[in-house]
Amino acid sequence: MMRFSDEFLKEIREKNDIVDVISPYVNLQIRGSTAKGLCPFHNEKTASFTVYLNTQSYYCFGCGSGGDAITFIKNAEGLHYSDAVAFLAQKSGIPLPQDGYDDTVAKMKRRMFDANRDAAKFFHATLMSPEGKTCLDYFLSRGLTMETIRHFGLGCAPDKWDALIRYMKKKGYSEQEILEADLARKTKNGHVVDTYRNRAMFPIIDVNGSVIAFGGRVLDDSKPKYVNTSDTLVYKKSQGVFALNFAKKGTGKTIILCEGYMDVIAYHQAGFENAVAGLGTAFTPEQAKLISKYAEEVILSYDSDEAGQKATRRTIGILSKTPVRIKVARLQGGKDPDEIIKKYGKDKMQQILSSAVGDVDFELTREKQGYNLSSADGKVAYLGRAVEILSMTNNPIHWDVYASRLSQELDVDKKAIVSQIERKAKQNHRRETKANFDKATTFDDEAMKKANPDRQKYLVAAKAEETLISLLLHNPDFYEKIKSRLSEDDFSTSLNCRIYRLLSQKLEQKRPVDVTYFAEDLNDEELGYLVRLECMRENLSNTVNECLDCIKRMKEEKIERNTKQASDMTDDEWASMFKKNQ
Ligand code: CTP
Ligand code: MN
Repeated sequence: MMRFSDEFLKEIREKNDIVDVISPYVNLQIRGSTAKGLCPFHNEKTASFTVYLNTQSYYCFGCGSGGDAITFIKNAEGLHYSDAVAFLAQKSGIPLPQDGYDDTVAKMKRRMFDANRDAAKFFHATLMSPEGKTCLDYFLSRGLTMETIRHFGLGCAPDKWDALIRYMKKKGYSEQEILEADLARKTKNGHVVDTYRNRAMFPIIDVNGSVIAFGGRVLDDSKPKYVNTSDTLVYKKSQGVFALNFAKKGTGKTIILCEGYMDVIAYHQAGFENAVAGLGTAFTPEQAKLISKYAEEVILSYDSDEAGQKATRRTIGILSKTPVRIKVARLQGGKDPDEIIKKYGKDKMQQILSSAVGDVDFELTREKQGYNLSSADGKVAYLGRAVEILSMTNNPIHWDVYASRLSQELDVDKKAIVSQIERKAKQNHRRETKANFDKATTFDDEAMKKANPDRQKYLVAAKAEETLISLLLHNPDFYEKIKSRLSEDDFSTSLNCRIYRLLSQKLEQKRPVDVTYFAEDLNDEELGYLVRLECMRENLSNTVNECLDCIKRMKEEKIERNTKQASDMTDDEWASMFKKNQ
């Protein structure tokens, strides 16, 4: 792949202010030269996502992701680096360099969408042919009408090893393309066979109407029950939501979230066209984010069994990081929505949905079952848990409503309950803020250890390396003065060594050294690490001597390897060592 020139990237950087780029995704609070918000890449309640205005970079102290405007778009939109560059170029009216932009990936994606659509057509045609009779009978026996079957484009994968492969080849797709779309797989013996054989097929369609993947169900009780498309260029299982293409058109702002394909289809057939299902096994933050783009309220409608209730609690935790209102439907009379609709009809289902309770209500009711409320101890213990649950919601209206209810139920003063909740909420907030602050000032967080696995082992050396790299990032002119005193062998950690190599290559060529110019050489975690090093500036004296001290330390450490003492040293001790020499 062709690289973009420094000049071109510089222009992108200058015309796309990082705050403008990130603002549509994150509600940023700007204070001085930094801005904070809730990280869009992981779930959190207090802001550890930090944007540095001076360096035009960002870093999340919670998950360790970091980079510049381009990497942000790449990660937020799930694009390839070159597509993220193209996106920002277009947005700011910068023409792409004639020979610089590689659109191979975009072409491959289009080709894969076509392949998936052709496969969906093939499965559907098979279902309607004599070959698909058993499968069609299966769908009909589960209560689906022909209209529903057509609406969802359901299909049948023939009971053959290579029916789809042959069809696709006739349509002009190469074996590699078929494999890359996961429409065929290689067996251990090297045979290429259809991924889906003798299965009822559910095409998964994204919000743009493209077929992106399939789920294939067995027609009997054999295992595995479902075979699903694994991740491809156009599909990430963790981001797939079944039937969102239909549900997003609903006029209401409510989405019903179910466990399975059949539940969704049963809902739609009964007239609830706002039902969707998360795909694969466990509901993910990415799915939550996608759904929250189209819904103000989500009604959880998972199976009524133990597993379904457990999944409900987990999903509440994930959804509560998005702005949607959460409700939980209490399914009665059947194990899942599909069964309830079939047994009792849509009016009963509507009634269940209308009496869905809020997430806090769901949690409190669940907790309550574990305590003996006729004893004083039981009451106190339950109240303690209730206060904890409510303090997490950060919603004073909830506090008031539920405190009233608890006060009646338990015969306790309402004011006392509210003040307990407030106290607890303040405690939570203080604890989380402090934890974030500690992370921001020590340069010792888990994410840094993860990005640089050698760091903990050679902590003193690693800190010297980090300081040196930070100094060079901010004072490129120091490089000429120190380069003869330093070699790659002096580095103890391989990541810092690699960063130094990249850095010196750029400095030798008098090229810029902002984070932007490392994005294609480092992975996301490593890039986040580099942003952290960039941020150390405030603690540095920015002198050549400071560089030389670092180099001395690095060399000594490499020889001594006194790791035990190293990990005992605090950041302050480390910093004071340099101060002495000035
Ligand atoms: N699932 C899966 N792989 C499996 C089992 C389940 O991917 N081996 C996913 C499917 O998306 C499925 C959902 O989990 O739709 C719910 O599973 P389950 O309740 O077992 O399946 P249903 O779709 O409800 O199918 P049925 O009603 O036919 O039992
Ligand atoms: Mn089910």
